Amino acid sequence: MEYSAERGFEERQPPKHIAIIMDGNGRWAEARGLSRNKGHRKGVETLKSAIRSARKFGIEYLTVFSFSSENWSRPKSEISELFSLLKIFIRKDLAELHQNNVRVRIIGERNNVPGDILPLLVEAEALTAANTGQNLIIAFNYGSRDEIANATKAIATKFANGELQLEDINSDLISSHLETADIPDPDLIIRTSGEKRLSNFLLWQAAYAEFVFVDCLWPDFDELQFSLAVDEYYRRTRKFGGLSRVTA
Ligand code: FPP
Repeated sequence: MEYSAERGFEERQPPKHIAIIMDGNGRWAEARGLSRNKGHRKGVETLKSAIRSARKFGIEYLTVFSFSSENWSRPKSEISELFSLLKIFIRKDLAELHQNNVRVRIIGERNNVPGDILPLLVEAEALTAANTGQNLIIAFNYGSRDEIANATKAIATKFANGELQLEDINSDLISSHLETADIPDPDLIIRTSGEKRLSNFLLWQAAYAEFVFVDCLWPDFDELQFSLAVDEYYRRTRKFGGLSRVTA
C-alpha cells in the first residue's frame, strides 16, 4: 500500500509508536564540505518536518534519539552545539508544539544534564502535560542499559522494604519501572544512514518492534522517505512470537 498525501495510510491502522535513531548528520555535512555542526542544524529542521509528517500519518507516539549517554565522548564543541540546538528547539518551537496539542516528554539521565538545560526540559513537560494530541518523546542523555539498571535498583529497593515479593517480579513490573512506563512499546524503529544497530536505544521496549533501516542520511529524511519506511512496516507480518499471522 502506498502513502498518499490526500488519503494518508487509510487502509490499515498506522503504527501507534514510531521511534527514530536520527543518524548521519555528520556524514551529510562532511559530504558537502560543511562543519558537522551544520549537519546537526539541518537535522533539527528534518526533525521538525518528521514531527509534522508523523502527525499527518496518524502516529500517536514519536520518540527520537537526540543525545545518547555515549555521545559525551564527542568533541566538546560538538556536544555544546547539540545542547544549544536542543535549547533553541525548546525555546523556539515549544509554543508551536503546545498549540498543536503535542505532549512533550524527555527520557534520559538528568543528573549530569547542564544546569541551563534542565529547567527547559521541565518547562517543556509541564507546559504540555495536559495535551492530548501527538506525543513527542525526546531521548536526551539516554542510555537503555542505564534505564534498565535504574529500574532494577527501584525494584530491589521495594523488595528490600517488603513492598513487593519475589513472585511480583515479571516483565510487566519491569516495564512499569522504566521511564517509558505509560508509553506503549514502539511498533516500528527506524534508523537512518545505513547503520544497522540499536546503539543502546529502547532495548527492552524494542522486544517486538519492526526495524526499518534506511540508507538516507537523517538530514535527507523527508516526508517521502518517512512514508516509504512506514510502508515497509505495513508489508511486515507481525507474529509476536506466535504462529498466527497478525498484520499491523
Ligand atoms: C547522529 O548523527 C545524530 C546525533 C548524534 C544527534 C541527533 C540530533 C539532532 C537531529 C539535532 C538535535 C536534536 C534536538 C531534539 C534539537 P551523527 O553525528 O552521528 O552523524 P554521523 O554518523 O554521520 O557522524
